[in-house]
Amino acid sequence: MTETLENPLLEGLKLRRTPDPCVFVIFGASGDLTQRKLLPAIYSLAYRRLLPEKFAVVGVARSEMSDDEFRERMEAAVREHARDPFRDEIWQSLAQGMRYVSTEFENDAGEEELDRCLEQLDEERGTAGNRLIYFAVPPAAIAMIVKELAPRRRETHGWVRLVIEKPFGHDLDSAIRLNREVGCRLIGVNPAPLADTRVCFDPIGRDSEHRG
Ligand SMILES: NC(=O)c1ccc[n+]([C@@H]2O[C@H](COP(=O)([O-])OP(=O)(O)OC[C@H]3O[C@@H](n4cnc5c(N)ncnc54)[C@H](OP(=O)(O)O)[C@@H]3O)[C@@H](O)[C@H]2O)c1
Repeated sequence: MTETLENPLLEGLKLRRTPDPCVFVIFGASGDLTQRKLLPAIYSLAYRRLLPEKFAVVGVARSEMSDDEFRERMEAAVREHARDPFRDEIWQSLAQGMRYVSTEFENDAGEEELDRCLEQLDEERGTAGNRLIYFAVPPAAIAMIVKELAPRRRETHGWVRLVIEKPFGHDLDSAIRLNREVGCRLIGVNPAPLADTRVCFDPIGRDSEHRG
């Protein structure tokens, strides 16, 4: 297990603002990245009390899995890969807010189920309509998900932010094309090509429309 050292520069400083309540939605939740990196990182944030109090995780992928199977898989992943010791009470508080939605992305019914799940979490966990969406899927799947989901994307009363895992496309041309697709379909603008392989539109959708 990797030892984590405290950052001496933080001594005497107050923590930054409390993060907003939100649902962390992971597309590609049955994959390796989610198990080896994302859930262990979320667990570490919980361990250090850096997550918002009102927080939930929704895993989305095509593989069939129940909520409980998803939780079991993620628990095993955290036990194996987290940098912090496993503490059952921390895991249980995370696991209670964890759901899994299995969907073919071309399928309207899956999208409706995801919306229902998110709305339910807003009610149960107080996540206030805020969504942090993480695309942990291969580049080809990103373009397809954006194409399929964008026209059906429902308004939420909170903010929506998107993180796209690298690699962003497979070469410069495909990265520019994907960047355009994401920009046009999800936020209604044609953004300049990004220098980084990971983009985070902060925030997308409603808020950016409000700002004009
Ligand atoms: N693993 C890492 O440590 C790591 C590190 C850096 C970057 N990455 C990048 O992160 C992305 C995901 O990596 P991964 O290792 O998690 O891959 P993976 O194990 O193959 O998982 C891919 C995930 O995407 C889902 N998916 C949805 N639509 C898909 C489609 N059309 N084709 C294939 N899969 C689809 C798969 O689930 P279903 O089949 O159930 O839908 C699965 O949950 C890749 O671009 C990879 O290069 C990974």
